[in-house]
Amino acid sequence: MDASEIKKVGIAGLGALGSAVTRALLAGIDGLRLECASELNPPDEFDIEIVDFETLAARCDIIVECLPPAIVPKLAEAVFAEGKTLVLISSCAFLMFPEIQKMHDLSTSRVLVPSGALAGLDGVKGLKELGIEKSVIASTKPPRGFEGAPYVDKMGINLAQIESKTRIFEGSALEAAKGFPANVNVAATLSLAGIGAEQTRVEIWADPQAKGNSHEITVTGEFSTLHARIENRPDPANPKSSMLAAQSIVAVLRDMNNALVVL
Ligand SMILES: NC(=O)c1ccc[n+]([C@@H]2O[C@H](COP(=O)([O-])OP(=O)(O)OC[C@H]3O[C@@H](n4cnc5c(N)ncnc54)[C@H](O)[C@@H]3O)[C@@H](O)[C@H]2O)c1
Repeated sequence: MDASEIKKVGIAGLGALGSAVTRALLAGIDGLRLECASELNPPDEFDIEIVDFETLAARCDIIVECLPPAIVPKLAEAVFAEGKTLVLISSCAFLMFPEIQKMHDLSTSRVLVPSGALAGLDGVKGLKELGIEKSVIASTKPPRGFEGAPYVDKMGINLAQIESKTRIFEGSALEAAKGFPANVNVAATLSLAGIGAEQTRVEIWADPQAKGNSHEITVTGEFSTLHARIENRPDPANPKSSMLAAQSIVAVLRDMNNALVVL
C-alpha cells in the first residue's frame, strides 16, 4: 500500500476500550496508522502524542470515540466540522444528545457504530428492508450494575433487597436512555440499526445470580423472527465495560481495508 493511502487514526479516550484499540493499532492494522489521542489522564503504557479534540479531528482521517457519553457532543462537533469519519462506541449519546444528530445532518462525516456488546445486528438490518414489526432488547445485570441510575433513584428501587431476577424497567429506548444512561448503549445501537428509539422496546432486569451482563434481542418481521442472546463477562480494566465492545471497534477498523468483508 502506498504511504499516501494509509489512513491516520486518532483515539478519543484511552480508558478500557480506547487502550485496547490502541494496542491493536500499535500491533498493526492494514492501511491504518495511529496518529495521536485525546485523554485527560494519559496512561504510561503508551508513547503517544496527546492533543485536544480539534487537533485530533484536524490531523486524523478516522476518529475513534471511547469517551464518557457526556463528552461525546464536544468531540462530535470537532469531527463533523472537519468532515472526518467518527467511529462511535457510545451510541447512547445519539439518544441522549439530539444536537449530535442535528450537527451530523449538516456535515459530510460518516458515523460508524460498532456492534459493541451486542450481536445480531446484521440480521436486524436485513429484516429492516422488509419492515420490522417489533424490536425488543432485554438486558440483565447484577443489581449493583444499576447503582446511581436516575430511574432507580427516582423510583426508590432498593437494589440490595432484590433476591431473584426482577424486571426493574420496561419502556422505549428513549425512556431507557434517560433512566439508565450508563446502561443503554446496546439499546441505542439496536434502535439505530432497527426502528428507532421511540419504537424499540427495552426491558431491564436485575439478577443477583448473574455473573456478567447479558442481552437478548427479539426482532420480528413478516417473514422472520430473530433471537440473539449474548453473555459478556466484565472487562477486568473496567467492570462496567466489555472486552467484546473493544474488539468490535478493532473489527470495524480492520474492515476499512480488508479485501473480504463479512457484514
Ligand atoms: N456500544 C457498546 O456496546 C458499549 C459497550 C461498552 C462501553 N461503551 C461505551 O464506551 C465508552 C468508553 O468505555 P470505557 O470502558 O473505555 O470507559 P473508561 O471510563 O474506561 O474510559 C473513558 C476515558 O475517557 C477519558 N476522558 C474523559 N473525559 C475526557 C475528555 N474530556 N477528553 C479526553 N478524554 C477524556 C477518561 O479519562 C477515560 O480514560 C463508555 O462511556 C460507554 O459509553 C459502549
